[in-house]
Parts: sequence; structure tokens; C-alpha cells
Amino acid sequence: MEKFIVEQCGPLKGSVRIGGAKNAVLPVLAGALLTENACFIRDVPNLSDVEAMGELLTSLGASIEWNRQEGIINVVVDDLKQNEAEYELVGKLRASFLIMGPLLARLGEVKVPLPGGCAIGTRPVDLHLKGMAALGAQIEQAHGFMTAKAKKLKGAKIYLDFPSVGATENILMAAVLAEGQTIVENCAIEPEIVDLANFLNAAGADIRGAGTDTVKINGVKYMKGTDHTVIPDRIEAGTYMVAAAITRGDLNINNVVMDHVKPVTAKLKEVNMHVEETPQGIRVYHKGNNRVIASDIKTLPYPGFPTDMQAPFMSLLVTAAGTSVITESIFENRFMQVGELKRMGADIKIESRSAVVEGVKHLTGAQVRATDLRAGAALVLAGLQAEGSTEISDIYHIDRGYQDLDTQLNKLGASVTRC
Ligand code: UD1
Repeated sequence: MEKFIVEQCGPLKGSVRIGGAKNAVLPVLAGALLTENACFIRDVPNLSDVEAMGELLTSLGASIEWNRQEGIINVVVDDLKQNEAEYELVGKLRASFLIMGPLLARLGEVKVPLPGGCAIGTRPVDLHLKGMAALGAQIEQAHGFMTAKAKKLKGAKIYLDFPSVGATENILMAAVLAEGQTIVENCAIEPEIVDLANFLNAAGADIRGAGTDTVKINGVKYMKGTDHTVIPDRIEAGTYMVAAAITRGDLNINNVVMDHVKPVTAKLKEVNMHVEETPQGIRVYHKGNNRVIASDIKTLPYPGFPTDMQAPFMSLLVTAAGTSVITESIFENRFMQVGELKRMGADIKIESRSAVVEGVKHLTGAQVRATDLRAGAALVLAGLQAEGSTEISDIYHIDRGYQDLDTQLNKLGASVTRC
């Protein structure tokens, strides 16, 4: 098991380039299952989650070539031989449930293991299934697998009780080859939904309104291949923005869509950081020697404050001057980092879905454990400011979503050792 040893560091300085978004690449790879010619996907980050999705697609009959140096994946899905996903592969990442929509649309039947619980909550898939059923699929559950069958999916009007990102993506992909028009209301409007729709449209789909809460999909008969560059990762960008704030540094963060990081930018400004747009992305810097100040946060669907940034931002607020209240409204169990931050000297109390953070002057390095991806990133950020060394175990969680976090931070002046 690899660990990170993070030493307290001074202000981080320099430039970092943000990679393609993990949460955009995974649905785009699932969407490639709909296409019958080669797809080239560019700016693909070298992450274990992408690796797992690639293995899953290969097990279904896709041929995948991944040039990691160039960040390009070439997927060819001309012959799908399997409509059943293996439990071991699906268990590796929850986003693998996104193969349900495309496989159902393309093959008329799909069998996918139900994703189990995960560190951040139970994460049901009822909205995905309601969408498939509305499109005419017969859904059955037995022995831990969900089976969906439909000779031909038919367009329908679907209202989502909650704007779930995954359900929106799965329904969109199922509807692309359905007969007639599908209208999805109250759907998610995250940038990754827009990216998926752009990819699918370039491959021959007819999707309108992605990025608004009502998406219309006119079914098409056939999907060809395409060439698509995924959007920059707004959560990776947000994590480096917080790293600049935590170390009172000055970072140029390149390949960022300013609009996508608006909620994090607004909060950083509120706590006294400077954020400026640059020709290549953004600059985040701190002037003077004052501590950042406390601020309240509530996670919400886009364009609200992203739940994936909640833990990293908490690592900043634990040493801010004053009291912050952080409310997690998306996932029911997403304060896994709190116990670990407390071991480092943070003063945090959980009250139902809120964490009350009393800013302390200093954290102290300790042995801590990354319990999930974003909680792990939060501990690295906390380690940058903690006196002495912070030893973080189970960093495989961090490698799921951050490419070379240690080497990138070291280039900016940090000391993070993988051992
Ligand atoms: C995606 C992101 C994840 C991010 C999350 C919220 C990917 C691969 N992952 O996850 O990083 O934290 O969006 O921005 O893109 N829900 C239901 N029923 C469903 C589906 C979801 O009740 O059928 C609930 C979930 O339990 C959760 C909420 O809806 O409380 C949001 O989940 P959702 O938007 O679906 O997140 P994911 O797509 O799983």
C-alpha cells in the first residue's frame, strides 16, 4: 500500500496545467458503446478510474488503445459481444453503471451488477431505472444484478425527482437510439453533461438543451465515430486553487474554464483570496500575511458549490479566522475527512448534515487515512499547512481522480513523497 508523506511547506508558486475531467471522460467512454466507428477521445487523464472503465469496455467487446503519453484513447466498438458486466469490474467504480443506457439501447438487453454502498453514502440508482422504464424497458432485479430489456426503446417524457448527474447521463445515452423524442425535465446541468451531449452529437446524436434543466433527444438510427477533446477537470482545478489559498501562495492554474469554477472562485474571494482570469486560465494568490477568514458553504447541484470540493475547502476553513458552517446537501455521509482532520488538530463538530468548523491557528501533522477520493485530497491540502509531517495511507483513492498530484505539487514548491 502506497502512502504520501506531506511536509509543511511555504507558499506554492508557479504554474500547473489541469487535465481532462475524470467525470467527463467516464460517461464519454460509456457513450462510445453507442458508436459503430472509431472514437478518438483526447486529453484523457491517466487515472485508475479511467483504467477501470477501459477494462470494463474491453470485457464487453470494445477494442481500446490508450496512448497515455499523449492522453488519447481510441475506442472501437464495432462488435459488442457481451451485454453483461462483471461484478469485479463494476465494483471498481460506480460510474460503470453508466454502461446500462448505451448497452440497452444498442443490444436490447443489459445485465449490470447493482453498485453497492460506498464511503460517501448509499447512492441509489432508482432514478436511472425509472428513466429506463419510462423508455419502455422491463427492469428486473435478482441475485444482485439489474436486468433491463426492451426490443426497441421508445421516446418518453421523464421528470427527474432530483437532478442526478449519473441518471441524466444514463437516460440521455439510452434515448439517443430510441424511437421518437425523449424529453428529460429537471435534469442535471453540470458541465460534464454538456460535454457528453457534445460528444454524442458529434457522433450523430440529436440532443438539444444540454446544460439547461430540460433536454430534448430526438432518436437516431445509427451513431458513427468522432474525435472529441474532454473539458478540463473543474474539481482538479478547484483543488489547486485551494492549495494556493492554504499555502498563501500564488498559482497560475491553466486549462480551466472560468465559468466552471465560479462557485469556488466566489468562496475564495469571500475568504480574502485574489482570483483573476488569465489568458491561459486563472491566477489565485494571497496578498499580505493575514489568515483567510471563515465562510459558510452549502453544497448544491451545479452551478452551486460542488460536493466534490466540500472536503478540500474544509481543509482551508479549519485554519481560517472565525467559525464556518459547511452543509452537505448532496450526499448523506460525506464528512469522512472530519475525523482525520481532527487528528491533525482541527476543531470540527458535526450536527446532522452540517459541520461547524472553529478555525484554529495551526494544524499538526499526524498519521491519517484517505477514506475516499476527495477526502484524500483534503488531507494532502491539510498536510501542506500542518506543522511537521503528515502521513496519509490508502492513497489509491487519490490516484482515482488526480494525475500525479504529488509530482505536480512538488513542482510548485511542496514536499510530497510517495512511499
Ligand atoms: C457524480 C460525480 C460525483 C459527484 C456527483 C454530484 C461522476 C462519475 N461522479 O456522481 O463525483 O460528487 O455527481 O455532483 O460523474 N441519487 C438518487 N437516485 C439515483 C441517483 C442519484 O437518489 O438514481 C442521489 C444520490 O444518492 C445523491 C444525489 O442523488 O444523493 C446526487 O447523485 P448523482 O448526481 O447521481 O451523483 P453521481 O452521478 O453518482
